[in-house]
Amino acid sequence: MAIQISPSILSADFAHLAREAEAVATSADWLHVDVMDYHFVPNLTLGIPVVESLKKAASLPLDCHLMIADPDRWAPDYAEAGAGSVTIHAEAASAPVRTLRTIRDAGARAGLALNPATPLDHYTGLLEQADMLLLMTVEPGFGGQKFLDLVLPKIRAAREHVEARGTELWIQVDGGVDAETIGRCAEAGADVFVAGSAVYGKADPDAAVRDLRARAEQGLSVSHQHR
Ligand code: DX5
Ligand code: ZN
Repeated sequence: MAIQISPSILSADFAHLAREAEAVATSADWLHVDVMDYHFVPNLTLGIPVVESLKKAASLPLDCHLMIADPDRWAPDYAEAGAGSVTIHAEAASAPVRTLRTIRDAGARAGLALNPATPLDHYTGLLEQADMLLLMTVEPGFGGQKFLDLVLPKIRAAREHVEARGTELWIQVDGGVDAETIGRCAEAGADVFVAGSAVYGKADPDAAVRDLRARAEQGLSVSHQHR
């Protein structure tokens, strides 16, 4: 399990997305793209046309997080637009098995997201259809919110599930991940870290990504000592 960092452009300057994407191109692994529709969450961001343009302008693979109603209808379009990963919310999908398969068939990694209050137990049967589990560590919709420690036991349970089955499922955390909280997420078992304000809110986003990675690696080594 390798640490990966996915800076969220939600906290970037939307008038200069290509420049903002390049600001983390040498330090990050993915570019996290938050798609919001004013229905599933009370905020509105961007859709397919911007993803298509970013795909051409950015060198990092796109990690599209769909916070939208009816992801079954729209998710395949994001995979076809060239996203490297497309994540749908379990709370919004009515045919998650089919939708996750369609994302994979279109050549992207398939992600399943759970809100902080959504239990993991209801969805363990679905996890073999997914390449990544996204555990929200804030209520989705806005950047800059406070990390919810109450999600840590769910991260631990997800890591135990993955280890027990020996699968390759990545565990992503999103929301309030910063220099102070990333270590405990890694220690609990997360391996893919989304950070918006902790990257784009800093004067040097590239240095912020490197610092976050170092802290996550530290947390991971602590978790290995405990095993
Ligand atoms: C929130 C989004 C996040 C957001 C995180 O609903 O899914 O990706 O950008 O922002 P920070 O890292 O500032 O909490
Ligand atoms: Zn997100």
